[in-house]
Parts: sequence; structure tokens; C-alpha cells
Amino acid sequence: MNKKGNPFFWQDFISVGQLSFPKIKYIFSLADRMSAAVENGQARRDLKNKTVAILFYQPSTRTFSSFLSAALWLGCRRVIAIPGMQAYSSAVKGESLADTIRSIEQTTATNIIILRHPQDSSSEIAAANARVPIINAGSGKKEHPTQALLDLYTIQRELGQLKKLRVAMVGDLKYGRTVKSLAQLLTLADPQVHIDLVAPAALQMPDNLVMRLRRQGAQVKKYAKIEDVITKADVLYMTRIQREWFEKEGQMGLYNRLKGFYVLNRPLMRKAKKKMIVMHPLPRVNEIAPEVDRDPRAAYFRQMRSGLYIRMALLAAALTPSPLAS
Ligand code: NCD
Repeated sequence: MNKKGNPFFWQDFISVGQLSFPKIKYIFSLADRMSAAVENGQARRDLKNKTVAILFYQPSTRTFSSFLSAALWLGCRRVIAIPGMQAYSSAVKGESLADTIRSIEQTTATNIIILRHPQDSSSEIAAANARVPIINAGSGKKEHPTQALLDLYTIQRELGQLKKLRVAMVGDLKYGRTVKSLAQLLTLADPQVHIDLVAPAALQMPDNLVMRLRRQGAQVKKYAKIEDVITKADVLYMTRIQREWFEKEGQMGLYNRLKGFYVLNRPLMRKAKKKMIVMHPLPRVNEIAPEVDRDPRAAYFRQMRSGLYIRMALLAAALTPSPLAS
């Protein structure tokens, strides 16, 4: 087993805190191989004799379909993919997450569990109770590490570099998990990265994270309007206002006041640099006007394809000792 060459082999992947720049580069080079295979229509065989379980307790379009597709593109023939766990599993009867994880492991003989769950600590709980690796496909308001990797990979592919960038993050930076994970990855790629945080005061990124980013060397500034950042941004990362968390916390009045706060449209895009990209983890609600979709700088649809390649890379790395050799 060449564990040295592949730092992801048989490991949980639950937080961006587990990554380093060399580890990111390792996944990116694997993702390049995956991209070539998919673009040439050549399915791989990495997961030929493996079993993959995908358990989602929150809605998903892209993360669910790309993990499922990633397993199949890697030749996996036993995929147990269960969306709607919150409604259809014994969670409804009061079963704990720990017991559900143990149960799925026993009933499926899976080699890995991919988990999306509304609780911040869900992946840690799963990892403590599973013998197989856990991949975090979104945990509460805290982390979305596979999304952050695919976002960074998109930036690399679109702009050809990860250094000296000015990245503006816009929208719900309080509840959104993708921006929190991406901000941390950006500082791993370039400790001096400029991160402009654009949010109403009530939805700004939590102070402890902002302080951590600054301690790592990042130049982090807070703004209220897209106009304040758009002329300088290399990456404009839009996010939706996360209705479900306002609902949970009885804050629908606040949601209704904030929901149309930011809308990226053509007049705003006219102020942006020629070489820049607009990203969004999606789903969008109304924060990017459809007229922007035709702008070549709109990278959010291409961004989704990076998700397939990155998730293929992560699955192959977790379940085979030397995926780069094949
Ligand atoms: C995001 C998520 O689930 O955190 N979606 C995704 O995985 N692409 C963003 C969101 O729901 O707003």
C-alpha cells in the first residue's frame, strides 16, 4: 500500500482543515485525469469492486448527482444512494445519527459513506461511529469541503492561477457553508489572498473565522455593496440568502427584508474586469439575473462540472492506494 504517495487513502474527508497545498495539488492532478477520462467518454475501473453509500438528509441537486455519477464513472456497480434520509430513514422514529451510520455500514457492507446533514458536527459523529471513511458532502452551516475543492479547481481552470487574487464573496456569509470552507482553502493556496466580504451586517461572516483568516495572512475586508468590490474582483462568488436557517430560527421577517438585497445584473457586470469570473455554488434564487448567464465570465455552470471531476478524484483517492498510477 503506497500510503505515502496518496494522503487520502482510507481517510475521512470531513474538513478543509485536513488539507495542505500539496494535498490540494494531489487532488487537482487526479481531477485532471478524471476530466480527460470523462471528456473522452472512457469510464475508469478504480471502484470496480467497491461499494459506495450516499446518505443525504438535506435537499441537493448537484452534490448528490455528481457523487452518484462520480462513483459510476469510476466503475462502481454497487451504489446505495438515499436522498431524503430526513423523511424516509428511521431518523423519523428518533434513531440517532450514530446508529443510522452503524446500520448502513452493516446492511450494505459499504466501503465509504458520503454524508450530507444539517448538523454542524454530523461528519465528526459519523466518523466516530463508522469503520469506513466518511466524506462530508455538507455539514450544517459549517463546512462543505468537497465544494470548496471544486470551487478552487474551477478558479485554477478558469483563471490559470491561484496566487495574487482578489476574491469577493457576496450574500449570506453567516449561514452559507461554502464560503466558509472556500475562504480557508484560498488562504492555503495563497496566504496573502485578498478576500472582500460583501454582506448586510446581519449576514456577515462570523468574527472568529474572519480573525483566523487574518491571522493566516489573508487581507480580509468587509463591504455592504457589490458596487464597492466589483471593479477589482478577479472572482465574484455569489451566494443565496439561506431561507431554511431563518425559518428554523424564527427570523422570517429578517429574511423577507434581506432576500432581494443583492442582484447581479448586466449593468453591474459592465463595471467588472474583462478577465474575471462569476461563481455561485447554486442553487440561485434571484441573486444572479438570468441575463448574466450569456456573459462569458459567468462560470457557475462550468463550475458544476468541476464537481464531477473533484468527487471522482476524492473517491478514487479514498478507496485505492495509488490512483495516479492508473
Ligand atoms: C450549497 C450547499 O448545500 O451548501 N449547495 C451546493 O452544495 N452546491 C449552497 C446552498 O445551498 O446555497
